[in-house]
Formats: sequence, C-alpha cells, structure tokens
Amino acid sequence: MVRGRRTILDYKPQKIDKSLLVELFDHAAYAPNHHMKEPWKIRVYEEDARSSFGEKIVDSYIRLGLLKTSDEQKLAKARQSYDQFFTSIPHHLLFYMEKEDDGGYLDDENFAAVCAFIQNFQLLAWEKGIGTMWTAKETLRDDVFINEIGLSPEKHKLVAVVQVGYPNKIPKPKKRTPLGDHIGWFRSKEI
Ligand SMILES: Cc1cc2nc3c(=O)[nH]c(=O)nc-3n(C[C@H](O)[C@H](O)[C@H](O)COP(=O)(O)O)c2cc1C
Repeated sequence: MVRGRRTILDYKPQKIDKSLLVELFDHAAYAPNHHMKEPWKIRVYEEDARSSFGEKIVDSYIRLGLLKTSDEQKLAKARQSYDQFFTSIPHHLLFYMEKEDDGGYLDDENFAAVCAFIQNFQLLAWEKGIGTMWTAKETLRDDVFINEIGLSPEKHKLVAVVQVGYPNKIPKPKKRTPLGDHIGWFRSKEI
C-alpha cells in the first residue's frame, strides 16, 4: 500500500462522503505525537469555498512573485486556470497547528506529528480508492495569506494544503533511487 500510493493531479468531480472523510481523520489521528498534543488542525474547503480559497492562494503566489510575471493579461489567465484547478477538485484540506514556542523545538515536534497525520491520511485514503496531493509552497509562510484566511501568523503555523478526491487518472510510479548512501550502519564503539 505504501508503494502503490500516488500523488494525484487529475480528479473526478464527485465529493467524498463527509462521514468517510471523518472516519479517515479519526484513524489518521493515531499518528505518533509527543505528550499527546494531537496538534493537527484541519480545514476542509469544498463547494463554493474552493474558489475563494484558491483566489487567496493565487493572490499570495502573485504577492510572492511565484508566477514570475507582472503582465496583467498573463496574470488574469493564470487566475482563470488556478480557479479551474481549485474548482475541479472536490476538497482542499488545509493542515495547520498552533505555535507553542515560536518556531522552536516544540513547534518542530508538533510539525512532525502533523506530517505523520497527513501521511496516515494519504495512505488510509488510498486504501479507499481516494487520491490526494500534498502541496506546500512559500504561501504557507505568507503572513498576509494567513491573516486573509482568518488565522494568525503569531499563533498558527500552516503545514500543508492537500487536494482530495477520487482519481481520474493515476500516474505511473516515480522510481526511488537505491537507498545505499542514505543509510549508515554503526556497530563499533567508536561512532
Ligand atoms: C512537503 C511536500 C510538498 C509537496 N509539494 C508538491 C507541490 O507543490 N506540487 C506537487 O505537484 N506535488 C507536491 N508534492 C508531492 C510530490 O511531488 C510527490 O510526492 C512526488 O513527486 C512523488 O510522487 P508520489 O507521491 O506519486 O510517489 C509534495 C510532497 C510533499 C511531501
């Protein structure tokens, strides 16, 4: 199951039952987390909220120069295609957490736990035939964006935006490289 999961870019329009999404979140919450902080917070953007959410994301891309153009016509076209992207996918999940020590060790721990939750969710969803796409861009650190969606950059850290829906097309697996150099084995007293 771990090897079979794919990042899905192309989705069918139908929504996933709310009860199924809640069930997946319930199971995903068995992710490891220190001191049982259970730091994950999730917002589900669906139906009409998708366009508004997408619009704020594109505003952020433009603000941060991620679209690499200031030509009004090109930006208008980009806005259109992002709107099409956001409205063609049934659910967009925003994962975030509350900050505890302003980017210190506790926040690192909580961030790691939210990532574990997300991966659990992705795998559990895949088991039910549901596709996901984990996205993370500089927008997650854009204070204006964070304020615009009603959160606070002082209090909240955004972790990921995850697209969710039934896959229309499943891409071929991307091969992983042999792990060789990524692993060190230590056996002697001198480390
Ligand atoms: C933190 C993080 C950020 C990612 N951001 C993006 C993204 O912005 N756009 C995208 O298409 N995929 C994104 N991905 C998904 C990866 O592109 C994908 O996992 C990788 O290509 C391997 O494909 P697979 O998931 O199908 O095995 C992200 C994954 C992670 C973990």
